[in-house]
Amino acid sequence: MQQALRIAPSILSADFARLGEEVGAVDAAGADWIHIDVMDGHFVPNITIGPEIIRALRPHSKLPFDVHLMISPVDPYLDAFAEAGSDIITVHAEAGAHLHRTVQHIKALGKKAGVALNPGTPAQAVQPLLGEIDLVLVMSVNPGFGGQSFIASQVDKIKELRARIDASGRAIDLEVDGGINRNNMARVRAAGADAVVAGSATFSGGAYAENIAALRAAAARN
Ligand code: DX5
Ligand code: ZN
Repeated sequence: MQQALRIAPSILSADFARLGEEVGAVDAAGADWIHIDVMDGHFVPNITIGPEIIRALRPHSKLPFDVHLMISPVDPYLDAFAEAGSDIITVHAEAGAHLHRTVQHIKALGKKAGVALNPGTPAQAVQPLLGEIDLVLVMSVNPGFGGQSFIASQVDKIKELRARIDASGRAIDLEVDGGINRNNMARVRAAGADAVVAGSATFSGGAYAENIAALRAAAARN
């Protein structure tokens, strides 16, 4: 069943020189989760942040840290990301040969486990994991950078995953990441999303509370 909408600002679009303040600011502006994009320059063509930065950010907000690992290999780093203060740890289905083992590892660490699907990966890739995971992350851009355009073909995949999650009977969040804005928000919500990542849409212009409120209002215009 679709849940109340959660908005997760991606701090990839924040001012990296003031990251702690930025996390506190989006928390105060009405964010539900803090989305943290971890990139390794190998699985994706960009390098961002590691567990020590997450540890340093942890005191700046009590909101769940929604940590999106775009790294390969991922297994050797799971303990460090868990200990640093992640609440949800999402790994890519494409990032390793042993997705089920990786998910078990995250669960054994006491964290919520998410699986992300690149735009070219079908919904069915996550089907065997629906008995274990807490979240599916649909990438509506190719991962690596903020500020890209929403890939409209992913809307059908969101709908398909909504149906698969509902059929599972489990409380699995369906989150969408990439190119979310006021114009496509209603479509994404109507397709079945429970949570959306919003990088540029939160941080552009500097009015974070207005930006988040505008996304929520747009989602309600179904
Ligand atoms: C892309 C990241 C996204 C990105 C979203 O690889 O996973 O979280 O920061 O940024 P916007 O909302 O600007 O597309
Ligand atoms: Zn992300």
